[in-house]
Amino acid sequence: MRLALLLLLLGTMALGQGEDPWKRLCAQCHGERAQGVRPYPGLQGAAPLFATPEGRRYLVLVILYGKKGEGGLMPGFAQLKDEELAALLNHLKVLLQAKGDPFTPEEIRKGRGLNLTPDAVKRPEKP
Ligand code: HEC
Repeated sequence: MRLALLLLLLGTMALGQGEDPWKRLCAQCHGERAQGVRPYPGLQGAAPLFATPEGRRYLVLVILYGKKGEGGLMPGFAQLKDEELAALLNHLKVLLQAKGDPFTPEEIRKGRGLNLTPDAVKRPEKP
């Protein structure tokens, strides 16, 4: 009986791991296809950000520290690994069919250590 419970638990954990991180962490607000889930914003407008250094820096800060603005409050995800955050941004890039290089874990790491609050993260004037 105990063994059955343990196997069940391990099975559930494995499922949780395999589940698409975008669906688990981002889709509740931004939707499975980044279309937005009211009252939260869709991310179509973020596509040009992937193609410029300022835009990419901003995307890294948003995912690490969150963002507060007219659209509401997004929490930061600094607790995740650099690899996971790069994968999430790259998933968004595919959803938006955005131009630009894929994010590397190294590019995420450069944004760490700033301890920004969500209202300190500002979108660049021009992406
Ligand atoms: C609790 C809801 C919520 C969750 C969960 C969430 N976001 Fe957000 N996100 C927001 C809100 C609200 C904004 C807009 C804030 C503003 O108005 O400045 C935003 C903004 C953004 C932006 C900036 C868009 C732009 O054009 O400037 C990006 C990129 C983004 N989110 C990506 C993600 C990713 C990737 C995830 C999953 C790791 C995620 N978000 C999870 C609520 C959320």
